[in-house]
Amino acid sequence: MATMKAVRMYEYGGPEVLVHEDMPRPEPSANEILIRVRAAGVNPVDWKFRDGVGREFFGHQLPLILGCDLAGVVDSTGADVKGISPGDAVYGYVNLGRCGAYAEYAIGMESEVTLKPQALEFTEAAAVPVCALTSWQALFDIAELKTDQKVLIHAAAGGVGHMAVQLAKARGAVVIGTASAKNAEFVRSLGSDEVIDYRTTRFEDVVKNVDVVFDTIGDETQKRSFQVLKRGGMIVSAVSEPPEKACKTHGVKGAMVLVQPNSTQLAEITTLIESGKLKPAITAILPLDDARKAHEMSQTGHTQGKIILTV
Ligand SMILES: NC(=O)c1ccc[n+]([C@@H]2O[C@H](COP(=O)([O-])OP(=O)(O)OC[C@H]3O[C@@H](n4cnc5c(N)ncnc54)[C@H](OP(=O)(O)O)[C@@H]3O)[C@@H](O)[C@H]2O)c1
Repeated sequence: MATMKAVRMYEYGGPEVLVHEDMPRPEPSANEILIRVRAAGVNPVDWKFRDGVGREFFGHQLPLILGCDLAGVVDSTGADVKGISPGDAVYGYVNLGRCGAYAEYAIGMESEVTLKPQALEFTEAAAVPVCALTSWQALFDIAELKTDQKVLIHAAAGGVGHMAVQLAKARGAVVIGTASAKNAEFVRSLGSDEVIDYRTTRFEDVVKNVDVVFDTIGDETQKRSFQVLKRGGMIVSAVSEPPEKACKTHGVKGAMVLVQPNSTQLAEITTLIESGKLKPAITAILPLDDARKAHEMSQTGHTQGKIILTV
């Protein structure tokens, strides 16, 4: 039997439940693709799942291999797969029920992966899918952000935020980002027209008449965000549903994004990357067997851009 290295967990808990070990290599079924993973992106959802969040909703079974962002080379494909071939370099977001990217080999579907941008290394490509798709779906599908509209992006230096700033800018929007002072220059370099230091300035004191707020923080930040929206504007949150009552009071729309794999949108994202309009920022690259450390870093909630595991 063919084996592989993977990081698995046999129980829910802290970073110590992650175990680097040998296990049987998965086999693709008729509509699946087996990918030799070269790099996996680390997302907050990984450590939330590790803690046991969403286990019923997503139907997780132990032992579980975490990780939903990957870049690698197609090893083999099931009989029904038509658009992707062995040897193709691909990247993608595999669904949150299956996960599996923290491993030498992972299963993906044609609807989840697309050809890797040639301009990016595998480590860079693995930084893109979840964060770029979340931003795309929040800003373009849900909020329908248009040229010249004003958008406030919270946590603009984070994994999602740094993609959202670039995508909003590429759409021709006026972008305001929140970040701490150490990240101000970084956020500006992504194309943000204005950066607010959330530690020294209450953003609602200096921002008004915004068309769209993209909230990746929740709680108090979300509550205070209603004050900056113009009537008819929209708040989209990646963390919690904006309350209907607050939306009514302020005359705005509210929605939550739950990112879906989408290889068609990912191909459009590839085009932006190839044209130089979108670039992932990576703060740390660690080997797969350092997954515990990667989680500890991500859990600080203060990393810039992305953390990547190389496989
Ligand atoms: N619903 C979905 O589909 C979906 C998809 C992806 C992610 N998410 C969720 O979205 C959230 C963000 O994800 P992420 O990957 O962007 O996380 P992340 O990369 O860990 O975010 C870290 C960033 O947050 C910034 N930050 C922390 N507190 C802040 C505050 N009060 N105001 C402004 N910025 C602040 C930090 O900046 P400083 O260091 O400057 O403080 C840091 O740059 C997570 O909860 C994640 O689970 C949801």
